Amino acid sequence: MATLLDGRSVSDSLLTEVKQEIDALKSKGIAPKLVVIVVGENPASQVYVRKKQEACEKVGILSERVSLPESVTQAELLAKIEELNKDASVSGMIVQLPLPAHIEEPLVIKAINPYKDVDGFHAYNIGKMFLNKDFEDMAPCTPKGVIKLLDFYKIDVSGMDAVVIGKSNIVGKPMSVMLLNRGATVTTCHSRTKNLLKYTADADLIVVAVGKAGFLKAEMVKEGAVVVDVGINRLESGKIVGDADFEGLEGKVAAITPVPGGIGPMTVACLLQNTVTAAKKQANL
Ligand code: GUN
Repeated sequence: MATLLDGRSVSDSLLTEVKQEIDALKSKGIAPKLVVIVVGENPASQVYVRKKQEACEKVGILSERVSLPESVTQAELLAKIEELNKDASVSGMIVQLPLPAHIEEPLVIKAINPYKDVDGFHAYNIGKMFLNKDFEDMAPCTPKGVIKLLDFYKIDVSGMDAVVIGKSNIVGKPMSVMLLNRGATVTTCHSRTKNLLKYTADADLIVVAVGKAGFLKAEMVKEGAVVVDVGINRLESGKIVGDADFEGLEGKVAAITPVPGGIGPMTVACLLQNTVTAAKKQANL
């Protein structure tokens, strides 16, 4: 039977550590604060943002939500970001993605002060992580959460053949770099990959982030592989499932993350950790 990589319990212990750091900062008069900007009413975004704010409350990070209408102009959004960049009480901010089509996402991300970019999406933070793992202090939260979960279970990726399925800027690309930084031989597959099976069949580690329920099937992986499922998909029944066919895979693989309770809570915990890092940077600690 596969080891269950339990993101819920590992994230709880991470949050305990984060809370201790926050308590220490508060005793120095520093109160970390996260601002979450949400544009429009995307139902999934509403859920994710609520989870982020609840987690802030748990550890004592002040959180503020800025809700902007779907019709907000790019100039108005950029002006809001600039205001938050200048606000010394704000340690970190995120703009929940996706954004409406009339807004240019790269310009929005570029406008965030990199020291307040707790999502780790700004080119400065993304670029820095290419150097080596010592420069991943503001890495994107989902891949960071994957690495922390693997570390907890002492899964050493050095020398592994790793396949990342998905090449998004927020998961697939930074995930590939972080695995490479740790000595894995990394292949990044995506929707144009001609023969996905050729890569997954030999992989020691597969990270799947494609947003399709049950996409990764048992016959695509080798026995004893490690599977990390980044997907969060809501079925018509309302059930939340990942991108991996958990029931099919768990009898074949060495370890697998559940959905829910895998990478989702790890992502949130890493966001809070990045917020603490940002608060410390701003206080020159
Ligand atoms: N949308 C999906 N995942 C994320 C994330 O980690 N950060 C932001 N800002 N938006 C997202």
